[in-house]
Amino acid sequence: MTEQPVLAVEGLRKTFGDHAAVDGVSFTVPPGGSLAIVGESGSGKTTTARMLVGLERPSAGRVLVCGTDRTSPPRGRRSRLARARDVQMVFQDPYLSLDPRVTVAGAVEEPLRLHFDLDQAARHARRDELLDRVGLGEREAAALPRRLSGGQRQRVALARALAVEPKVLVLDEATSALDVSIQAQIVELLRELRATLGVAFVFVSHDLSLVRHVADDVLVLRRGRAVESGRAAAVLAAPEHPYTRLLLDSVPRRGWDPARIAADRRALA
Ligand SMILES: Nc1ncnc2c1ncn2[C@@H]1O[C@H](COP(=O)(O)OP(=O)(O)OP(=O)(O)O)[C@@H](O)[C@H]1O
Ligand SMILES: [Mg+2]
Repeated sequence: MTEQPVLAVEGLRKTFGDHAAVDGVSFTVPPGGSLAIVGESGSGKTTTARMLVGLERPSAGRVLVCGTDRTSPPRGRRSRLARARDVQMVFQDPYLSLDPRVTVAGAVEEPLRLHFDLDQAARHARRDELLDRVGLGEREAAALPRRLSGGQRQRVALARALAVEPKVLVLDEATSALDVSIQAQIVELLRELRATLGVAFVFVSHDLSLVRHVADDVLVLRRGRAVESGRAAAVLAAPEHPYTRLLLDSVPRRGWDPARIAADRRALA
């Protein structure tokens, strides 16, 4: 018997007016697994991510967390809180979700206060443990968000998301705004967190070069539809769909030829 997926998505669809932003997307993520959702700008990645965490209502299809359908609206505060705990999201720009007046320490305590009944000493201990896990020390803990670098802010966002012990962490372009050396540090942190905490990842990115480092599986979206999926290593080594090949060719590297990529892109459309 195969293990029940921690996340299962069936025929997910979202329309805005008469435009289908996401159109019949299905996938599963095993416990502790990692799926990368890739595709170019406008392919429906963020819309998919937002439906996973309940920020967007699907027009059709289902999202199941540990076998439980969470597409219908939650009943009451308890159920809403329980759902919020299961699937957490980290955005490209954590600055937007951090209160500029609250210190890092306070920002990490907030979800602990909301979701757990801890006394102050226990809450502080848990806060410090979380900060330590994401590589932030006492100096950062006392700082306001504007005093932090982009990489440090992303670490705070991770600590806040992990505070509620989610089963799935959805990361939407979570490293895309960081410079490459900081990006590498955050990718390494994500690998560590996955290995030690067993939390499953849905890693949304337009950047195929990152996928092999963060994901076991990959799903390629084009205009809201999945055109290819499979083990990340296999898909990256031998992409079957011309669109996947185009995405791979588009990653800058030695011999990179923007003119040829643009021509291939026109041929595909
Ligand atoms: N709230 C909305 N109202 C109307 N259209 C929307 C809305 N959100 C997204 N769309 C449209 O849905 C499509 C998919 O958008 P989405 O943000 O999911 O793409 P994406 O793959 O995340 O792109 P990017 O890589 O640029 O972040 C786009 O055509 C977008 O314009
Ligand atoms: Mg997006």
